[in-house]
Amino acid sequence: MADQPRYEPLEANPVYVNELMPRTPPESTVARGELQLDEHYFTGKAGGQFVSELPNRALEGRTLEEVLARGRERFTVFCSHCHGQVGGGIGGDPMYEELVGMVVARGYPSPPTFHQDRLRRAPIGQFFDVITNGLARMPAHDYLVPPDDRWAIAAYIRALQRSQYAPRPLLAPQDFEKLPPPDETAAATALAPPRREPTSRLTP
Ligand code: HEC
Repeated sequence: MADQPRYEPLEANPVYVNELMPRTPPESTVARGELQLDEHYFTGKAGGQFVSELPNRALEGRTLEEVLARGRERFTVFCSHCHGQVGGGIGGDPMYEELVGMVVARGYPSPPTFHQDRLRRAPIGQFFDVITNGLARMPAHDYLVPPDDRWAIAAYIRALQRSQYAPRPLLAPQDFEKLPPPDETAAATALAPPRREPTSRLTP
């Protein structure tokens, strides 16, 4: 009973040419539950192009509000130590250069801020792809963050962008009511070139 007439896993087996007990699975074998045929959901692409919509599957069983709340929470866990809470970094308004995470404050290369035209125009599938595969100095997160959460984070990046820069056509009429009344003097000052104060160094 103690010694069963069978081969243990990884035991040598002289029956096979390479004398190895484990067999190599045939090419293209997919482990159960690992078949990823849904290109949109698993790669953020359709026909090789980045998509600009969330896949329906990422919204199954949850509302958009729930997706964004989850995205915010996951972004805080997996991204904010580099990208900061609002997606700061270089390449946009200088104020965003300071709003990076602790890892960058300690010397890691600064990421690009999410608040610049290039990334405002980037389709959401591109965010999904960067999270999945990483990009240059940014590490991949495919093994850390499951696809549903990667979509939630990608949607939350878009929400962060809107929180800082909302194009007028996207605002609802009730949003305009919340804006301060247009102040003509303020607008005129904003357009005028900055007034230069003479410094003491120039006037000894
Ligand atoms: C270890 C630090 C680090 C972490 C963690 C990190 N990133 Fe990044 N990220 C970077 C750096 C650095 C870049 C710039 C990459 C480059 O161009 O070299 C970047 C670039 C990006 C970009 C811009 C891609 C582009 O097209 O320029 C996005 C979007 C992004 N990251 C999203 C995320 C999200 C979402 C997470 C969390 C799931 C995350 N990052 C986690 C460091 C990080």
